[in-house]
Amino acid sequence: MALMLVTWIPAGIHEKPFPLEGRGQSRPFLLQLKARQRAEAPGRVAAGETLTSFMHNSILVTGGAGFIGSNFILQMVERDTGSIVNLDKLTYAGNLRNLESIASDRRYEFVHGDIGDRDLVHRLLKHHQPGAIVHFAAESHVDRSIRGPDDFIRTNIDGTFALLEETRAYWTALPDQERVRFRFVHVSTDEVYGSLGPDDAPFCESTPYAPNSPYAASKAASDHLVRAYYHTYGLPTLTTNCSNNYGRFQFPEKLIPLMILNARDGKPLPVYGDGQNVRDWLYVDDHCEAIATVLDRGLPGETYNIGGSNEQRNLEIVETICDIVDEMAPRLGASRRGLVTFVKDRPGHDRRYAMDARKIERELGWRPKETFETGIRKTVRWYLENEGWVRDVTSGSYRQWIAAHYSV
Ligand code: NAD
Ligand code: TYD
Repeated sequence: MALMLVTWIPAGIHEKPFPLEGRGQSRPFLLQLKARQRAEAPGRVAAGETLTSFMHNSILVTGGAGFIGSNFILQMVERDTGSIVNLDKLTYAGNLRNLESIASDRRYEFVHGDIGDRDLVHRLLKHHQPGAIVHFAAESHVDRSIRGPDDFIRTNIDGTFALLEETRAYWTALPDQERVRFRFVHVSTDEVYGSLGPDDAPFCESTPYAPNSPYAASKAASDHLVRAYYHTYGLPTLTTNCSNNYGRFQFPEKLIPLMILNARDGKPLPVYGDGQNVRDWLYVDDHCEAIATVLDRGLPGETYNIGGSNEQRNLEIVETICDIVDEMAPRLGASRRGLVTFVKDRPGHDRRYAMDARKIERELGWRPKETFETGIRKTVRWYLENEGWVRDVTSGSYRQWIAAHYSV
């Protein structure tokens, strides 16, 4: 399956070799959005100011051009928490348009690259001296992992391993005080726990791992590596396992944006199997706040489950979306519910996910702010009002993917 890059590159983006000397050659392909601004404002680290005094405020985010990563970066910049470097490969799921509003903000820098490129990661860490890494970069779609697991192994396992190795080398060389304060937050999923029966208690942090899809298995492997780096080397890692997210900027291959856009356009709404699979939905802003909370107050070596306490069957979600789209974009004739089409089930389809998020609530004081009723309305409105964004991502490879996927 050929995947084409569906991204928006802002005017002013240009290629420039990364400025630091590394263990290898500088990379002419490296795109640095803010290289010119930096060149025009020399001395990000002012005379007399040491790199270590600057590093408290610098965070390296991986996969920040994706759905959750871009929402996280926007939230962090809005809170003025310091500077952010976004390392993203810009796969089909990475979209710089999500970050258009901060593209020229001095506190933000985009670097085009792969977390598996150890030389690049080494030079980035050396240059930016981050006080924390928040690791979102991943292949994230279960259906794609079923059709072609290779990229999932490469990025989610090998990529995380490369990132951990370079982080360990960087962290080991930090002065004592900075080494203690450093954090590596690994963003993971509830899918590592497998599937629940209808009467099972929700997943808690001590639930044994039982991943069922190649995606879930690759995330589980990365979670184990992260855990091992804490236990073996003392790297201050924290892992978050979150339930299904929804909100703006989600690539419309996932259930909620796909259904909103198909409903808008009067297209069939493909529900897998009997539509009775259950997911626990969380609004993306709440997930981002939970990650920021873990970064701020979490205990190294710990894992935190994050969820919305909002279990719903897929069919209920789709019908809710139909009703909201009917209300916000009325069309003559029958309700959009009539567009629901039951299609062949996903192989190995997990029946039910549910998260017990009491640990992060109790220990760190996080709680979701958005209810599903308010969050889903905001989300539907956003997709209906952002035609430009939708047009960008639904052109090209996205269509090819949909055609290949749903024709079977
Ligand atoms: P996404 O697919 O929207 O974005 C992934 C981003 O990572 C993209 O910008 C992509 O370009 C980038 N990327 C992929 N491979 C890369 C590589 N090798 N090097 C650098 N960048 C690379 O994913 P998302 O939904 O935003 O998920 C982010 C993270 O959160 C993932 O780790 C995922 O497992 C986890 N998660 C997602 C959900 C959810 O519902 N979406 C729920 C729980 C956890
Ligand atoms: P998805 O958004 O792919 O997330 P995940 O598989 O990580 O939970 O799917 C959510 C649920 O919706 C899942 O049970 C599969 C189902 N689904 C459909 O019924 N139809 C679709 O077209 C898609 C994409 C998903």
